[in-house]
Amino acid sequence: MSFQDEIAALGREAEAALRGAGSLAELLALKARFLGRKGGLAGLLKQLPTLPPPERGPAGRLANEVKERLERLAAEQETAFQGAERADRLLRERTDVTLPGRRPPLGRLHPVTQVAREIQGVFLRLGFDVVEGPDVELDAYNFEALNIPRDHPARDMQDTLYVTDEVLLRTHTSPVQIRTMEKHPPPVKIICPGRVYRADAVDPTHSPMFHQIEGLMVDRGVTMAHLKGVLTLFAHEVFGLETGVRFKPSFFPFVEPGAEVGIRCVICGGQGCRVCKQTGWLEVLGAGMVHPQVFRNVGYDPEEVTGFAFGMGVERIAMLKYGIDDIRLFFENDVRFLEQF
Ligand code: PHE
Repeated sequence: MSFQDEIAALGREAEAALRGAGSLAELLALKARFLGRKGGLAGLLKQLPTLPPPERGPAGRLANEVKERLERLAAEQETAFQGAERADRLLRERTDVTLPGRRPPLGRLHPVTQVAREIQGVFLRLGFDVVEGPDVELDAYNFEALNIPRDHPARDMQDTLYVTDEVLLRTHTSPVQIRTMEKHPPPVKIICPGRVYRADAVDPTHSPMFHQIEGLMVDRGVTMAHLKGVLTLFAHEVFGLETGVRFKPSFFPFVEPGAEVGIRCVICGGQGCRVCKQTGWLEVLGAGMVHPQVFRNVGYDPEEVTGFAFGMGVERIAMLKYGIDDIRLFFENDVRFLEQF
């Protein structure tokens, strides 16, 4: 085989190999093998000086031709591989805009706050103002002015946490009635939301701290009919328009007459169940016409004005509204519970 045939043969072999390369890495290895400084073509060119002089020129030209052709082919192949690899990477790293997004966790109001605001909303729409009073209260406001003297058996209705003989944690929001009437002449139309405290053992329906909303409306000519109208509307707004409402005589020292307001059991619809203790009714709040002695205690003339008052437990309303059977859930702050509201 002549030297030129050898070059041509190497050219064909290299061309076939380069075309058949399966990857960029393989291509680069083949390029080194045939075209590198220690490659096949370089090896042949080294023999050029050993040829008879007339053959050197044509052989050199052929070798250069083959070299250029192979280099062009290798470059083309390299570009093709790089393009394919890039396309592949773009496909792999593509953002799938159809994937559902991750929602950032959102905070929300505590269910007791939500229900308290809902209740307040009903009375705000009726023109009541919101008034707050202190959690640490005087015995004089929490009891005396509300017609509950010391040693009166009615004090047993609420187990009190005392700070001193005269100072206590308020057991209800009723003292805010007294504070308001003391400062403002009638008419008065207020609700008083806030925390209250009682020395009760913790169980599914008792907590030493809970929330109440008090209401008070005083003016000339306020009657039991106003009390019934306002509280029936309240029950319908919070529990639904179809809810049955009843008023039952009851006793609180600061009202006369006193009433307990009940709704048809929201759990069993009145059939009788565990929650309503088979009565078909649920007591939701205490109410009554303000006692004349309470008016005299704050300097109002009971011959001039009359009024009604009511007080309700926010946790109890929330429990009935949502069918929650344990008051402790409100205070444990387990997010799995809280997230449901
Ligand atoms: N203060 C009473 C209680 O906590 C509720 C109430 C308020 C009753 C106003 C009548 C009128 O039990």
